[in-house]
Amino acid sequence: MTPRSIIERVEELRILLNNAAHAYYVLDEPLINDSVYDRLYKELIDLEGKHPELKTSDSPTQRIGGEPVERFQRVRHRVPLFSLDNVFSFEEFASWHKRLNKTLQGKINREKLSSEASMVAELKIDGNALALTYQDGILLRAATRGDGEEGEDITTNVRTISSIPLRLLIKDPPPWVEVRGEAFMPDAVFSRINLEREGRGEVLFANPRNACAGTLRQLDPQVVASRGLDFFAYTVHLSPDLNSRDDSFLNLTCQWEALSWLKRVGFKVNPHAAFIQNLDQVRAFSNKWASDRDQLPYATDGLVIKVNDFSLQSSAGFTQKAPRWAIALKFAAEEVPSKLIRITFQVGRTGAVTPIAIFEPVLLAGTSVSRATLHNADRIADLDLCSGDTVVVRKSGEIIPAVVRVLKELRPSFAKRLIIPNQCPECFSELERELGKSVTRCMNTACPAILRGVLRHWVSKSSLDVEGFGTKLIHQLVASSLVHSIADLYRLDLHALTSLDRMGPKSASNLISSLDASKKQPWHRQLYGLGIDHVGAVNAKSLAKKFQNSDQLSSAVSNNFDAVQSISGIGPEIASSLKEWFSKDSNQKILFDLKEVGFSLGKVDVLEKASAHQEDLPKPLEGRTFVLTGIMNSLNRNQAEILIEEAGGKVSSSVSSKTDYLVAGNKTGNKRIKAERLGIRIIDEIGLMDLLNPDSPISH
Ligand code: IVH
Repeated sequence: MTPRSIIERVEELRILLNNAAHAYYVLDEPLINDSVYDRLYKELIDLEGKHPELKTSDSPTQRIGGEPVERFQRVRHRVPLFSLDNVFSFEEFASWHKRLNKTLQGKINREKLSSEASMVAELKIDGNALALTYQDGILLRAATRGDGEEGEDITTNVRTISSIPLRLLIKDPPPWVEVRGEAFMPDAVFSRINLEREGRGEVLFANPRNACAGTLRQLDPQVVASRGLDFFAYTVHLSPDLNSRDDSFLNLTCQWEALSWLKRVGFKVNPHAAFIQNLDQVRAFSNKWASDRDQLPYATDGLVIKVNDFSLQSSAGFTQKAPRWAIALKFAAEEVPSKLIRITFQVGRTGAVTPIAIFEPVLLAGTSVSRATLHNADRIADLDLCSGDTVVVRKSGEIIPAVVRVLKELRPSFAKRLIIPNQCPECFSELERELGKSVTRCMNTACPAILRGVLRHWVSKSSLDVEGFGTKLIHQLVASSLVHSIADLYRLDLHALTSLDRMGPKSASNLISSLDASKKQPWHRQLYGLGIDHVGAVNAKSLAKKFQNSDQLSSAVSNNFDAVQSISGIGPEIASSLKEWFSKDSNQKILFDLKEVGFSLGKVDVLEKASAHQEDLPKPLEGRTFVLTGIMNSLNRNQAEILIEEAGGKVSSSVSSKTDYLVAGNKTGNKRIKAERLGIRIIDEIGLMDLLNPDSPISH
């Protein structure tokens, strides 16, 4: 029997420590100093050590106690997590508001709705939604949003977030309650972590939201604990029935009360929520935060405006994917003027010349920006860009910066119209522009810039994934004339490599090992690595499946063109591009040389076994069809396609009733509208990652 005095002391310590943590992490008003906290914490650890029977899951000592997991369990949400419809301007918001009030007027008798519905405006935190289930006041489960119906159980990770209570701070907690909110990574933590990653030579996180998503899906809770995530709560559900907003158990009748209940029971609630009674107040609130958001220590990408009254929310109801009683009013993309310094011209692996605008550094969406692609000659002409111009640069969230227009009124008198030069900036050979096309190309196959591009593509992650070959090294290898082709990479020896600046024998031998290892990469990667126009990673896979090796493919494109173009996903354009590529002697030489240095350029038994093994892996997306639209943040379209296909799913190019999911990035258009009309589930890339396996590369 554990002595009563010990049981009481353990309980007392927990309350003390929980209150202290709440004061520190949630209220930002420390109650006791760190050394007192540490002493009490140690006392509790000791007592729990001596009396393990007293350990409970809500003890403050259990925040980082979780063991690393192999993968996360999928869990079905008792109440689905809906997403929000977006509007992008105050005018659009006003028409949404008008429609909503009309709907409500039609449904509610006049006494109840004498005027327009009151609203609550909140900041839209740019993080990742979490659903936290508390049973009898104790945190039982924390899940990601997933596709809204099913998410992943990331409880051990979420327990490490200090501002999330493990036990609700009330005497009589409801038997079941689900709290929803947004986990996020504060900007300062994001910068610190990226700085550390840079120091270790690791890939940087693109933005705080991706860093947060990547962190939440870490398999080791210790890592999560070190990443300083935070959480704002914004919704309470007391009943698993979505349409029952009868939260009578707590006497909650509206969102405003829900927010204060959340605060009372120990959650961090964003302090900037506002009670709204008319449109003017929304306008003022939105104008204020469109500029003041830069001063916040975390990212927000808009406002969420919600009907306050729960019974009115029930009357408004839901569409397929979103509540009718709430809307996200997104902030406009940031635009700032800057002075154009010059244009540089980059020559890519296909010889295409891309003009890049270099301008005075400006702060945009939290980062310093000083260059933006101008794409091609037509774009320069459309902008009417001249030397000395002041340009307007835009960057919304993590989308790449762009020059959107020129401020002609500020144009200096000496201004000269900018054009693409006649000669390649690298090899000085004549540039060519095909009639009717906007691309200008360097046609010199020996151009060092083209060679660098070819090599960069060959060693890249989705091609041969040769470790250690960064841009700088490739530059050195080409400039020093050690490498004139892909095959030359494989002819490098220790002597040649150590002759390079700052290259020790250890690094040199590592590079040789990575090159050797890359020879074992599967055939489809070798094919993709060749960089044939229009042959992306997915097409390379289909081709490699059909044709055992480069000889078969080469002969098929010249002798059996129809067979090639009839392969699903290939078609006449890709088939012609293949035909052209294989018909060139210079490319046949590339193939010959690659074989000479040890490439199979075809299927090998071992690899087939490896891919057979892959067939055994679970296929979570088996039988599901996806359509991709818009620009994604951390994946490009090819990568998304590969991930979906590897998980057994199918990617189709157009939305139909057979589509299961639309994966929508930023800037979506018709596909999204069609999907909404057909009631198809729309997910973002985080949703996609949630559907895939837990080791997904969202963080990279
Ligand atoms: S309410 C059914 N409030 O925005 C209503 N969402 O684009 C659901 N979000 O998935 C959400 N801040 O992850 C709500 N104050 C806030 C929010 C918020 C951020 C996120 C949430 C949601 C996404 C929809």
